[in-house]
Amino acid sequence: MDAIPFHRPSLNEDDIEAVVGVLREGWVTTGPRCREFEEGFAHYLAPDGSEELHCIAVNSGTAALHLGLEAAGVAAGDLVLTPSFTFTASAEVSRYLGADPWLVDNEPGEFVVGADTFIRAYEALDKKHRKRVKAILPVHYGGLPVDMEKLEEFCEAEGLGLVDDAAHALPTHRKGKPIGRFGQATAFSFYATKTLCTGEGGMVVTRDGAMALRMRTMRLHGINQDVFERYRQANRWYYEVVEAGYKYNMSDIMAALGLSQLQRIDAFRDRREAIARAYSEAFAPVEGLTTPPEAEPGDLHAWHLYPLRVAGGRALRDALIAELARREIGTSVHFIPLHRQPYYRDHYGLRPEDFPHAEALFAEEVSLPIYPDLSDGQVERVIHEVVDSLAVVRSDEGRFGG
Ligand SMILES: Cc1ncc(COP(=O)(O)O)c(C=O)c1O
Repeated sequence: MDAIPFHRPSLNEDDIEAVVGVLREGWVTTGPRCREFEEGFAHYLAPDGSEELHCIAVNSGTAALHLGLEAAGVAAGDLVLTPSFTFTASAEVSRYLGADPWLVDNEPGEFVVGADTFIRAYEALDKKHRKRVKAILPVHYGGLPVDMEKLEEFCEAEGLGLVDDAAHALPTHRKGKPIGRFGQATAFSFYATKTLCTGEGGMVVTRDGAMALRMRTMRLHGINQDVFERYRQANRWYYEVVEAGYKYNMSDIMAALGLSQLQRIDAFRDRREAIARAYSEAFAPVEGLTTPPEAEPGDLHAWHLYPLRVAGGRALRDALIAELARREIGTSVHFIPLHRQPYYRDHYGLRPEDFPHAEALFAEEVSLPIYPDLSDGQVERVIHEVVDSLAVVRSDEGRFGG
């Protein structure tokens, strides 16, 4: 039987034609396709035009986060609250700016670090630390939304910035409103495994015109955008560098792929949801397995990840992953909490006992394949292999103590 990889991007002939079209036209760096992708993305998030969204295409989700935090005014010495249970990008961007991430533990058994948890973590800080907090950076883990309305209210009242990490959250809705329309800026990722793929790539979205201008400028070397636009249109040689900016622009090759993928983004999500339903139906009755939470009414889950929890401790979970790998079923773990990573652990003196709930989730979590091109037959096979492998590793009583 064929191997089932953990992920495979859904690429069709339209995507290939779109990319080849750019190559034929010959303008390969940031240009008309990027503009179209940005406009298409804004229209996708706010189709009725009720809200003006500024979308800025960049070369990674990490760049999008960095630009968002920088435009929100995060600077050296500041603290930014973010989960420990996330990818390093969510925290490293604070370090780029000379600020420090303040890692927050999960609630017991909850993958998403929500509004109440951030608020409690903030309120638990002593005066000295609390004064340093400049922003909160929540993560819509797996595609399930954080309660952004509540966090917006809190951040406004406390004078804090709010930049959300939506690397997993396309499309995700909170109370009927798409993620991307809350807070000061939202960062999306189009990395190879994400729900929309441009190979590498990202988009930062804001409703704030001044922040948009800042991010557009910082995206391209700190070049004054007005002058640059005039230069481009009139083909003059003059431009002005007004900041020490970054080189974060997206190429038209990537944008053409993104625009083509965007046409199928809802169909992609529907398929991932169907796969999640099939998994949860099959795994819910199995003792020791905990299926991931569904979206609350009015919310939309992107189902970027299917994080299954396996009771029995880390050794059993690891053995399950190894057994599935032997059967050529790709899996992953999201995430190794940041407090365990040598950089954060050593730099901030973090201990596992300070993050008991992230620790518990880490010991149990296994991410299963969930992507549009997975056939019904493959879904059935993943289900069968998970249940069967679990029985095999559990029966190994000598290693796991019965
Ligand atoms: C939660 C989270 N944030 C940020 C990123 C960074 O995105 P990118 O790889 O596009 O820089 C990722 C994954 O790659 C992620 O999983």
